Amino acid sequence: MHHQLFYKRLVKFYDLIYANKNYEREARFVRDLVLKYKKSKGRDLLEVACGTGRYLQYLRRWFQCFGVDKNPMMLKISRLNAPNVPTEQADMITLKLNKKFDAIVCLFSSIGYVKNYANLEKTIRNFARHLKPGGVVIIEPWISKGKFIVGSPHLETFSGKDLKIARASVAKRRGDISIIDFHFLIAERGKTVGHFADRHELGMFDKNKVLKIMQHAGLKAKTVQSHFKSKRGLYVGVNPVRELARGIRLRARMGELHSAPPRRDGAFSNGVKK
Ligand SMILES: C[S@@+](CC[C@H](N)C(=O)[O-])C[C@H]1O[C@@H](n2cnc3c(N)ncnc32)[C@H](O)[C@@H]1O
Repeated sequence: MHHQLFYKRLVKFYDLIYANKNYEREARFVRDLVLKYKKSKGRDLLEVACGTGRYLQYLRRWFQCFGVDKNPMMLKISRLNAPNVPTEQADMITLKLNKKFDAIVCLFSSIGYVKNYANLEKTIRNFARHLKPGGVVIIEPWISKGKFIVGSPHLETFSGKDLKIARASVAKRRGDISIIDFHFLIAERGKTVGHFADRHELGMFDKNKVLKIMQHAGLKAKTVQSHFKSKRGLYVGVNPVRELARGIRLRARMGELHSAPPRRDGAFSNGVKK
């Protein structure tokens, strides 16, 4: 069985399978969250695992965007869907760019592909390292273990005049890892029907453990509800403005060293009453 064929040889069918996903509405929601939580001044946004660039297509209206993904075939389509948005092939587990961002987003369950907690820790530390002080990261999780129903059947279809696609799967599990064996039937005009089997393995992470990992990476972390189709909510992590905090502490110390004598009216020179 192939692994992630959907992002490689079958990549031209990706946007058709998700034709009904409202990327524009979700991108607007992400925009509003970023603007609500970020404390930095800039508008540099990185989408990790940007796929075919369907979010970038909208996010580029409001942000200076950059996209990374592990699969170069996905990035090729991203450059068509979101022209002028630079992209780079990169694995989120080892991500190292020479740039920091005001916002990093990782959406549509992509985080699940890191599979285990060790990789998740590395990935979230990478996100934190690529944030400016006051920057924000938004992660849309994959399904949690508690909600995953082993044995449940799933079907997505696309029906065009010259092309019909059916993608069927039955959910399986190995410990904390969900196993999705997609079976594609692709009927194209004038060709014999193609059948492709494609395995996707995604880690199912516990919400409290994810929040702890985000906090250990130095982020102020919480979950928020979303209007996304998945209804799984989103993780929001803010990189505290450490420089500002350090500056405040430093100024406080300097104040102690050079403190002006109390005024005769009994107030300190900063106006605070004794
Ligand atoms: C479900 S798709 C989501 C793509 C896009 N964000 C969207 O919403 O359409 C998952 C994406 O994660 C990418 N991916 C999987 N593992 C990755 C990794 N370790 N680092 C970066 N990208 C990865 C895949 O290539 C694929 O494009």
